Amino acid sequence: MDKLLIRGGRQLRGEVLISGAKNAALPELCAALLTGQPVTLHNVPRLQDVSTMLKLVRNMGVSAERDDNGTVRLEAGDLSNPEAPYELVKTMRASVLALGPLLARFGHAKVSLPGGCAIGSRPVDQHIKGLQAMGAEIVVEHGYMIASLPAGRTRLKGARILTDMVTVTGTENFLMAAALAEGETLLENAAQEPEIVDLAEMLIRMGAKIEGHGTSHIRIQGVEKLHGCEHAVVADRIEAGTFLCAVAATGGDVFLRHARADHMDAVIDKLRDAGCTVAAQEGGVRISSSAPACEHLKAQSFSTTEYPGFPTDMQAQFMALNVIARGASMVTETIFENRFMHVNEMVRLGATIHVEGKVAMVEGVQQLSGATVMATDLRASASLVIAGLVADGETLVDRIYHLDRGYDRMEAKLRGLGADIERISGAAA
Ligand code: UD1
Repeated sequence: MDKLLIRGGRQLRGEVLISGAKNAALPELCAALLTGQPVTLHNVPRLQDVSTMLKLVRNMGVSAERDDNGTVRLEAGDLSNPEAPYELVKTMRASVLALGPLLARFGHAKVSLPGGCAIGSRPVDQHIKGLQAMGAEIVVEHGYMIASLPAGRTRLKGARILTDMVTVTGTENFLMAAALAEGETLLENAAQEPEIVDLAEMLIRMGAKIEGHGTSHIRIQGVEKLHGCEHAVVADRIEAGTFLCAVAATGGDVFLRHARADHMDAVIDKLRDAGCTVAAQEGGVRISSSAPACEHLKAQSFSTTEYPGFPTDMQAQFMALNVIARGASMVTETIFENRFMHVNEMVRLGATIHVEGKVAMVEGVQQLSGATVMATDLRASASLVIAGLVADGETLVDRIYHLDRGYDRMEAKLRGLGADIERISGAAA
């Protein structure tokens, strides 16, 4: 298993290129299932999750080729096997995104239940309920959701779908299913994330009729067929936010090319309140921050919420900043029930954090000291890298396969900014 060895204490300076968003690329790869015509996606990040999704669609019979410049060409003719098996779904929950498009285009689908994951139980009951409202018959058997259309029907039918909570992949499944359904679908309580907007824009390019994306009410007028398209994946606001927190923590001055400030308002506001200078500039975002954080930055309390609120996917990385900033802060996680797995690892690095239920109380310390820590999930791994960049001495982050799931060559990008960080391959470790 690969590890990252970090020698902390260097400031970050220069320019970093922000990749396409994982959480947009994954549904967009699934959207290619909605048509038999070629779909070309540009700016697809090089990530383990993208490789898993490509494996998943290839396994169904889709032809999918990826080049070295981040372009993926897909063609989903008649699929031999409209199925998402457990072996792939268990490594990536987003596989559930195949359910809506398969059902909408082929009238049947078999997708494994995702099961639990490190950050919580993460059920898919809302996905099932919404697709049932559109006329799908779904049974759960032997760990699989087996979905079909009632006898005599060839298409899903439009419906009004009101989910119990805001769900990102749920909204995406409904968007894709509704695009090919008969009649109108109204999504109430829809997620508003930029990745939803990006997916809707891709679907519109394919001939879908969608209005209201980016708000909580999305209206979709189903069409009989969608066609191929070419689409560039939106920049990854979580990768960008992670780099912003890293620079804030280490001090320095970095330009994040392709980052979208308008997608990161909540995080940027907190960074400014902490004492960093963050500005949208042509083609990206610039941040500068003074070191050491314990003198120049003030810890910030925040609570995670759905977009446009503070993203749960940035909670751990911002906490890494709070642990070495001045003063006390309160971090409240409202989206997932078990998303403080990084806390015990940060404590091993010298942080002072006390967790009670959904709330972590953080007391800023002057310095962290390097240690061996273990990555437990994707964003927790990123937070440990940030902590390692500021810690005194060497930090070894173990189990970074979690990091590779969602970050495009993170250590190479950090090295380009002056960090002392290297990958130790499993064989050598
Ligand atoms: C997506 C993101 C993930 C992010 C999360 C919240 C992708 C591929 N992943 O995950 O990075 O952390 O949004 O911003 O885009 N829930 C149910 N039943 C359901 C669906 C959701 O109870 O059927 C609950 C979840 O357990 C969670 C909350 O709703 O507590 C929000 O989850 P959801 O928005 O669905 O997360 P994902 O789409 O899985």
